[in-house]
Amino acid sequence: MKTQLFSVRSPSDPAIAKVGAILRNGGLAAIPTETVYGLAANALNDDAVRGIFRAKGRPADNPLIVHISDLSQWDALVTAIPDHAKRLAAAYWPGPLTIILPKSDRVSNVVSGGLATVAVRMPSHPIARAVIDAAGVPLAAPSANTSGKPSPTAAQHVIDDLDGRIDCIVDAGPCPIGVESTVVSLAGEKPRLLRPGGVTPEMLEAVLGEIEIDDAVFHHLADDQAAASPGMKYKHYAPAAKVTILKGSFAQFKAYVDAHKAPGTMALCFAGEEDKLSVPAIAFGSADDGKAQAARIFAALRELDERGAKTVFARFPQMAGVGLAVFNRLVRAAAFQIVDPEKRGLRCYGLTGKTGAGKSTVASLLRDRGWYVIDGDVLARQVVTPGSSVLRQLAAAFGGDILREDGTLDRKRLVDRLQQTPHGVETLNAITHPAIDALVQAELEKAREAGYTRCVFDAAALLESPSKARCDKII
Ligand code: TXA
Ligand code: MG
Repeated sequence: MKTQLFSVRSPSDPAIAKVGAILRNGGLAAIPTETVYGLAANALNDDAVRGIFRAKGRPADNPLIVHISDLSQWDALVTAIPDHAKRLAAAYWPGPLTIILPKSDRVSNVVSGGLATVAVRMPSHPIARAVIDAAGVPLAAPSANTSGKPSPTAAQHVIDDLDGRIDCIVDAGPCPIGVESTVVSLAGEKPRLLRPGGVTPEMLEAVLGEIEIDDAVFHHLADDQAAASPGMKYKHYAPAAKVTILKGSFAQFKAYVDAHKAPGTMALCFAGEEDKLSVPAIAFGSADDGKAQAARIFAALRELDERGAKTVFARFPQMAGVGLAVFNRLVRAAAFQIVDPEKRGLRCYGLTGKTGAGKSTVASLLRDRGWYVIDGDVLARQVVTPGSSVLRQLAAAFGGDILREDGTLDRKRLVDRLQQTPHGVETLNAITHPAIDALVQAELEKAREAGYTRCVFDAAALLESPSKARCDKII
């Protein structure tokens, strides 16, 4: 399908009537809102709504937000509007706030993803409101990105993801807020923040009194943990690059990046820091300006991909106000990888078991998750390099002919000798283990210096070795 592009700067632009007609007739339109671009369809037309899920590749159990332009539209969508919901809407609508209540029969399971509730929001963007008015129906609209990608904050992002898959895109320039709306559920016993956004927890509490903040705002949900907001369950906002967030000062950030950079490393830093780093950097607002960070974060994540970043180190945003929303999106982009260079408390996990038990597989999985890996085999080979004192001691204990002419160790001969010598293995361990342990100690120091907080030590004979004492836990 050919996607029409309308460039619209005013709510009175004649293109808006065309977009309204497309939507009324069951079509899909990407529209600007004050938060992010939304992919809209007539919320009362199931076939149209199914088109949203298809175009985005969105799982069918992830419900959509229904957008209205007038309070009178809310009534028909929910079973009842309790007082505190009315007060909340009066305070922050139109604006970046989504309110969840039990749904009425007018809202189908396609929209609600099978839930008994519906999320409703009245956007403040004048073009969004004009489009809803023109359509004459409530509009179901998730963010207009391919599912799993960062949300679109400019029409170009929508074009990049959805060109050819939807009827039209309304370009009204960049979205001023830049992160999706705050989602609050009033369907349970206590008001519950499911997703932080432009309306901050403090602003919610000013109207509602104490609110609960859902676990998913801060933490990665375990596979068996039900998500109050299904969207929090999916991999989200993620660029192709592997992102790690670093706590601490700019000086610590810079030092860590220097120590860990490789080809393809980029930094996601605060404005003004770009030129002080030794790797290419993209800024997402200045350090003390949560609003500017929100406005930039998604575009910055997309730029990292465009520039081919493989590894990204990101500054840690302040979590106050709208900063909580910035943190929430960034920590998902980073798959919850946060490193604290200040925290020298490195935990070392010993990993032991027979050859072939899968130790190195586990170690490499942990390495991918940002752990430091010490490979016992590598260290064991290092201590027997030609000319080493360990080799001299071994030759003294097991016979000079365990060394080849070039000074390297003849392992096969050593194994034969071990079997012939009483307490051979104990003797071998007594000679090699202290030397290996010195290398383990040096490795741990290196990991600490580099700011790692987790280390795995992969060693077959760990339980017999003095390095055992260096492990906080043995698996
Ligand atoms: O700012 C925004 O909210 C943007 C613009 C376009 O309005 N929309 C948006 O929609 O971000 P979407 O679909 O990308 O995110 C909606 C989030 C998802 O995490 C979804 O699971 C959750 O809200 N949600 C929707 N209906 C829900 C419900 N009934 N119960 C719990 N969570 C719900
Ligand atoms: Mg989304």
